[in-house]
Amino acid sequence: MIASATANGRISITGIGSHAPERVMTNIELAELVDTSDEWIVERTGIRERRVAAPEEALSDLALPAAEAALEHAGLEASSLDLIIVATVTPDMIFPSTGAILADRLGAKDAAAYDLSAGCTGFVYALVQAHGMVAGGLVDNALVIGGDVLSKVVDWTDRSTCVLFGDGAGAVVLERVSEGGFLGFELGADGSGGPQLYMPAGGSRAPATAETVAARQHFAKMNGREVFKFATRVLVDSAEKVLDECGVAVDEVDVYVPHQANVRIIDHARRKLGIAEDRTVVNVDRYGNTSSGSIPLALGDAETDGRLAPGELVLMTGMGAGLTWGSALMEWTANGKGGTG
Ligand code: ACO
Repeated sequence: MIASATANGRISITGIGSHAPERVMTNIELAELVDTSDEWIVERTGIRERRVAAPEEALSDLALPAAEAALEHAGLEASSLDLIIVATVTPDMIFPSTGAILADRLGAKDAAAYDLSAGCTGFVYALVQAHGMVAGGLVDNALVIGGDVLSKVVDWTDRSTCVLFGDGAGAVVLERVSEGGFLGFELGADGSGGPQLYMPAGGSRAPATAETVAARQHFAKMNGREVFKFATRVLVDSAEKVLDECGVAVDEVDVYVPHQANVRIIDHARRKLGIAEDRTVVNVDRYGNTSSGSIPLALGDAETDGRLAPGELVLMTGMGAGLTWGSALMEWTANGKGGTG
């Protein structure tokens, strides 16, 4: 799917917030768990540390402070929310949805609320859905959350995956604005690549049994080399498609926010696209790959660092399990719906 986003008026991010667990886990600590080293992890991934949720912390515990910060930034009361979408592959539980749990915890009594699963691309998918609902006139506003607690589904005895992931959540509020905002989107999925990154058991195909637990089938499995090849291809393709659709040249992009999986993948994509390093947001060194949380956490960091000025063009591209990918191109607006300037 590829589309311009401006046919039914301008819609933008009017509030943003993020949250990561307190606990920092360094590469040195990981080297005590599995046969790895700080040097290997930094050289192959760029990751130096990640945040890890406490045993009692679930996704809604990370999403709640992120959502509250985004609502405060937008100047919107939770009771006025019309829609909540939580993009995640690690909900609090299979059902009810974390969206519904969060709506209750926020006091968003009039909001429709649900979860969306599109792997690490979930946040971009959720942005597109929320945008469509606002643009279609079905809702006045939407809260979009991307977050994951992958530490709970990572196999801590598997060095090829456990060094890569971390926990975190980010949230944005979408509303109509007078100018700027989202310009276009591109989304895709290739289910034939599903086995490259998946959790074998726990769904209706292989419900939980003593055997699936003993066979460690409730943990994330990944073919790193194949995902690496896929990632380097789609990050470039998807970004080029959305830029082309919007008639925007790559050198007009002010802030590039790619999925934070691996510094080598990010460097490859930005070089191939022709985006300068100082326009690229990188925080994978501090958070690892937080899946659906990755892009909103990076966007939140960029906002806190003063890197997002009204009028600047922001390009986000995600990729992940599915396999899925997606890009969003937008003109950043001041919070408070101010448009450019
Ligand atoms: N520490 C030390 N050695 C390791 C580790 C580790 N943590 N993990 C693997 N190795 C070893 C391997 O066993 C292999 O050894 P061998 O040569 O004796 O067989 C060697 O290191 C090289 O392994 P490769 O897999 O070729 O290493 P590569 O350079 O490809 O890096 C990595 C692996 C980091 C996983 C890379 O393939 C990658 O980043 N892939 C993409 C991952 C990704 O983006 N996933 C998420 C996307 S979607 C989502 O976000 C959920």
